[in-house]
Amino acid sequence: MSDKNSPSNPIAVYGSLLYFTADPMTHGEKACHHHSKGMLLIENGRITYVGSRSMGPKPPLGSTIFDYGEKLILPGFVDTHLHPPQHGVIASNSTELLHWLDTYTFPEEARFSDPAHCEKAAKAFFDELLTHGTTTLLAMATVHSSSAEALFKEAHRRNIRLITGKTLMDRNAPDYLTDTPQSAYDESLSLIRKWHGKGRLAYGVTPRFAVSSTREQLEACGALLQKSPGIYLHTHLSENHQEIKTVKELFPEAKDYLDVYDRYGLVKERSIFAHAIHLSEPEFARLKESRAAISFCPSSNLFLGSGLFRLKKAREYDIPVGLGSDIGGGTSFSPFHTMAEGFKVCQLLKEPISAMGTFYLATLGGAISLGLEKEVGTFAPGLEGDFVVIDPKTTPLSAMRTDRCKSIEELLFVLMILGDERFVSATHVMGEQVMTKRPF
Ligand code: GUN
Ligand code: ZN
Repeated sequence: MSDKNSPSNPIAVYGSLLYFTADPMTHGEKACHHHSKGMLLIENGRITYVGSRSMGPKPPLGSTIFDYGEKLILPGFVDTHLHPPQHGVIASNSTELLHWLDTYTFPEEARFSDPAHCEKAAKAFFDELLTHGTTTLLAMATVHSSSAEALFKEAHRRNIRLITGKTLMDRNAPDYLTDTPQSAYDESLSLIRKWHGKGRLAYGVTPRFAVSSTREQLEACGALLQKSPGIYLHTHLSENHQEIKTVKELFPEAKDYLDVYDRYGLVKERSIFAHAIHLSEPEFARLKESRAAISFCPSSNLFLGSGLFRLKKAREYDIPVGLGSDIGGGTSFSPFHTMAEGFKVCQLLKEPISAMGTFYLATLGGAISLGLEKEVGTFAPGLEGDFVVIDPKTTPLSAMRTDRCKSIEELLFVLMILGDERFVSATHVMGEQVMTKRPF
């Protein structure tokens, strides 16, 4: 594991490059670029060349060479919604969201009042994340400042692109996990001042969901967004029927669930809403108008029985969508798993998605939804050199199956269905190799 914050050695990477420059669901296969004998050059953490190795320049003198042969090299995966403090409750059986929160999640999150636990958990979390090839993330901490603090600190140490924030909850949660509108405002502001814009870090104001914030607290969120342009808003929206019913009872003045947030200035560019499963037409229209984004979390939505997200509809409204693992409601850190579950949700809706479409969502689509497409999500000169190395021949089954593939779409399809962290040979952050494959 590298501790370096600004790699200075030039880096040359050889392999089979694959990346998107547009959405293949609208632009077709020309949105997907593949250089089977490709090269990436990276200097000071940023890409200086991407393309075929034979057509490119010689790597600068003194470059560190990573020759990955025929392995695939993709932009690092982007996870647009997850809860690092729920690492420990993944795979906890429940009938639905609210029971799952009360039974497993809130007690687990209570452990994060201890800064020492936060630090230890942050280290284990980022090890897991990088093992799966994810290099950019939008994450919810717990209500404790110490939880956000530890995530920022550890991500900064590893130079990982992280957006996170302390979660805000001032009602409908156990006493041991609640704050107040004032403490939420003060603690968020002090974290914003300390971390937002530092290296690759950004702050997200994080009311957990409308159920657990009073009007006064949502107002405090709006004030924070006004005060610090450039920060994000990150919350849950319309995930579960009981949740939606409760929101209606708590906010009878609102037109719909989204309007609860809208009334406090929380629906805007750089607002990311996780789930958004049961939206009305006016809610879709308002999301489009506001240029807010959705995080599609299929493994969580299936696991908690929340419902089927209508990706096609969101796309018709031109709403940016990224993929979220939603750990620990989600069932795996693996973007392959999340993509495969997303594919199955689309199958159930009879609105199929291509493998290219899911890989786009896990890379450039996710970056666009976070407003980070000038930094990550694809390969182009000037972008940050985050990438993941994937071995399609990891298992005898995948070797046999990928040998038969006649197209990139078919290869990506097999990887989406059969892939997991064993397929990730290495993960690089700003050019630096930060993780190599675990022995399995
Ligand atoms: N809604 C409010 N909190 C949570 C959470 O922790 N996970 C999920 N999936 N939904 C939520
Ligand atoms: Zn969530």
